[in-house]
Amino acid sequence: MAGPGLGCGPSATLWVAVTALSAALLAPGLTQPHDLSRRRPLGLKIDQALLLVHNELMHENLTVSWLSDYCYQCLYQDLVSVPMSNTPGKSSIVAVAVDSQHPITLHLNGTGAGREFPRIHYHFGEFGNYSLVVNFGSGTKMISCNIIINESPVNSHLPILYAFLIYMGVLSILTVGHVFMIIDPIRNWFYKKLHPGDTDHLINSELGSPTRADSTSSNVPATTWTVSQQRLRSLDIFRGLSLIIMVFVNYGGGKYWFFKHQSWNGLTLADLVFPWFVFIMGTSISLSLNSMLRRRCSKWKLLGKALWRSFLLFLIGIVIVSPNYCLGPLSWDNLRIPGVLQRLGFTYLVVAVLELVFAKAVAENDTLLETPYFALRDILLYWPQWVFILTLEVTWLGLTFLLTVPGCPKGYLGPGGIGDFGKYPNCTGGAAGYIDRLLLGEKHIYQHPSSNALYQTTVAYDPEGILGTINSICMAFFGLQAGKIFLFYKDQHKQIMSRFFIWSVVMGIISAILTKCSKDEGYIPANKNLWSISYVTTLSCFAFLLLLLIYYLVDVKRWWSGAPFFYPGMNSILVYVGHEVFENYFPFKWKMKDSQSHGEHLAQNLVATSIWVIISYLLYRKRIFWKI
Ligand SMILES: *[C@@H]1O[C@H](CO)[C@@H](O)[C@H](O)[C@H]1NC(C)=O
Ligand SMILES: *[C@@H]1O[C@H](CO)[C@@H](O)[C@H](O)[C@H]1NC(C)=O
Repeated sequence: MAGPGLGCGPSATLWVAVTALSAALLAPGLTQPHDLSRRRPLGLKIDQALLLVHNELMHENLTVSWLSDYCYQCLYQDLVSVPMSNTPGKSSIVAVAVDSQHPITLHLNGTGAGREFPRIHYHFGEFGNYSLVVNFGSGTKMISCNIIINESPVNSHLPILYAFLIYMGVLSILTVGHVFMIIDPIRNWFYKKLHPGDTDHLINSELGSPTRADSTSSNVPATTWTVSQQRLRSLDIFRGLSLIIMVFVNYGGGKYWFFKHQSWNGLTLADLVFPWFVFIMGTSISLSLNSMLRRRCSKWKLLGKALWRSFLLFLIGIVIVSPNYCLGPLSWDNLRIPGVLQRLGFTYLVVAVLELVFAKAVAENDTLLETPYFALRDILLYWPQWVFILTLEVTWLGLTFLLTVPGCPKGYLGPGGIGDFGKYPNCTGGAAGYIDRLLLGEKHIYQHPSSNALYQTTVAYDPEGILGTINSICMAFFGLQAGKIFLFYKDQHKQIMSRFFIWSVVMGIISAILTKCSKDEGYIPANKNLWSISYVTTLSCFAFLLLLLIYYLVDVKRWWSGAPFFYPGMNSILVYVGHEVFENYFPFKWKMKDSQSHGEHLAQNLVATSIWVIISYLLYRKRIFWKI
């Protein structure tokens, strides 16, 4: 009775009802209690504060330049110049907007020679009103600067707290509902009404929908099919979790910097999810290919299928990343070629072929029980795959560090622009950027990399470019390894979990060495734009841990049904494509009262994300899956 499908039926329906409720609550709830628009000094944008610079120096013009703490080795940028006051005894004041996301350093300079101007390090708050008063201190040689708060800033993180409380409310209603469901007659009634029927379908496909092959070739003796009887829900939940965060982040993440991609090096929430998606794709490839091989599917047929799938992914990817598809025929002149689905498609193809060529159905290997390396058989049996992956990695390192890029230093990993003290403004992404611009053309790659704003880069750079795809194959291969662990040690929870833990530790150590545990100072910093190798190892470290946790909660202990992440995980292609295509349509987007308010953005993005979860749940109930 306590099958995995049961717990989720009624409670998930409740979940949907309550999420719909919370979606209705969120929009007004996050914006009403502290109407930010009333407090916003006119003309200020989101993440800005007002700074009034008072020049009280006589006969001297003042210039102010600034630098964000998050801009690594950047040049100071001009902020404002304040002319000297014409009327004696009065200061001249100029108002300017300053960044409030990160602490910044202000650097003052005057026209008079031989003076020491102090630097000011300060973290302005959003929509605050500040004065910077510059005058001669008590001694006339020293300039003194003081920051005065005229009006205190708003707390722009408050909406996150409200959203959190609303979702916690949802969770508690759900829990109460769950307890309610334990009462037998009620549960039976719900169960009859709502149980979607046959839940124990087979191992999910690589991309999260049950494959066609699963439903057609069911004439195989059940004895050869042990893994599927205990479907691994953790994979779908892991996939769904990454996907939902991805949707939220793509919709804007409330315009908070920590929900958006990092400008260059380092990790934010947004930088975590794509690699996880790639990782779990690898895991699913391992499980589904193995099951099909054991059902005597021909390798050629599977190869054809893999080719077709990756072709479709590539095609869909091209269509949805192209911005013009609503405005008329595709414009070939500036069609973006790389993209998320394109990279997924290619990664899928390479890893699936690699697995097809070298995989053996796992059951055959039981004769190896006596060999000395038994504990490592999930690795050693596949040594040719490891050789291939290592070769790829050497290729990545070679191209990244040895390729000669005109006008740029060898092995450049920086953002260009004003980074590296402005020495290499057009070198964004070093070899990775160069290869894409050379092979695909400047117009056929992404035009607005995340380094645009902070580092003021001007060249096009694609975060889903060619060189990074090598490392995404690597990421999927680590996921494939997780799948092999599931297969080799099936039902031996301790074995599986300890292996995941060991992998996580190993990956963590490699990352710590490569990055020197720092954001910018390492040999190879973790970088989403480059998909550097340290990024892959760091994210694999997290992925093994996360999978371990979900596996323990869901498949070992059965404490959690996986709702709500399970449902989008089952229909990932549909949710991904859907969220991209309908991004600008109601109810995923609407006209905001104040487009410069974090609260409204957060409400909109969370509502949109919740709606996709509801859609995927309804489709799950109707057994509608988009299979490719
Ligand atoms: C900022 O504060 C100053 C000093 O109190 C005040 O004169 C000015 O009007 C304020 N600016 C805005 C836009 O509120
Ligand atoms: C960078 O590219 C821009 C535009 O193509 C060009 O004007 C500029 O001179 C280049 N800078 C360097 C240092 O090559």
